[in-house]
Amino acid sequence: MNAQLIDGKQAAADIRQDITQQIEARKAAGQRLPGLAVILVGDDPASQVYVKAKHNDCEQVGIRSFSYTPESDITQEALESLIDQLNDDDEVDGILLQLPLPKHLDAAPLLERIRADKDVDGFHPYNIGRLAQRMPLLRPCTPMGIMTLLHQLPVNLKGLKATIVGASNIVGRPMALELLLAGCTITVTHRFTQDLQAEVEQADLVVVGVGKPGLVRGEWIKPGAIVIDVGINRLENGTLVGDVDFSTAAERAAWITPVPGGVGPMTRASLLQNTLQACQHHEA
Ligand code: GUN
Repeated sequence: MNAQLIDGKQAAADIRQDITQQIEARKAAGQRLPGLAVILVGDDPASQVYVKAKHNDCEQVGIRSFSYTPESDITQEALESLIDQLNDDDEVDGILLQLPLPKHLDAAPLLERIRADKDVDGFHPYNIGRLAQRMPLLRPCTPMGIMTLLHQLPVNLKGLKATIVGASNIVGRPMALELLLAGCTITVTHRFTQDLQAEVEQADLVVVGVGKPGLVRGEWIKPGAIVIDVGINRLENGTLVGDVDFSTAAERAAWITPVPGGVGPMTRASLLQNTLQACQHHEA
């Protein structure tokens, strides 16, 4: 392997330590602790694991976390009422509605109902619009965490050709806005892209977030490129792998994120940063 590993686990630990100190300082000054409400509808096992990790992170840094776990048959209206209640609760700085939701629920109007200044996931159209217009407030956590990692590299992002594989609302689209803000020239690929390989081959920076193991082959990577793998896929033998064929890509890339231990911990760290930021905003 020639590539250097981008250590998201370490970077996330550094962020948690920084947040812990800031919250200690708040306590010492007699200020209120930040509060995060997490809504997990139903019993999706993967979501349960993610949400538990978020609560643990909060506890570690001194953020109060409040858990709401409605049954999977909750109605759209009842979930709206819960969001309204949390919107009005002064102890709650951030509200996170864990996705995906059961099929009978419509996520978009629920995400839009979360007060934009409590939208610590950064999914509200207002917050996406702010990012699109170069005035970000609360930013989507995964792209934000990736930008933190990229800014730590000894690399000037301005002018890089970036190819983003996957155009989801959670990863690909906001990632494009972040990289545009950082001065990259952006290509976003999606299911209708005709020649994915050609789009990846020309990229100095590749961000892949699709959920298909091995989708991006190592031979496609431009020598010296930066490779960011957002995928987390569990194979039948139990191992976790990303969307990039890691061992062959690492032969060609200059920098690459591992799975696990790359982007995942940074998404969670960004959530803590957003919750503290929302709390500071609510005091201002
Ligand atoms: N499901 C998968 N990733 C995320 C995320 O970042 N936020 C929320 N709310 N749900 C998710």
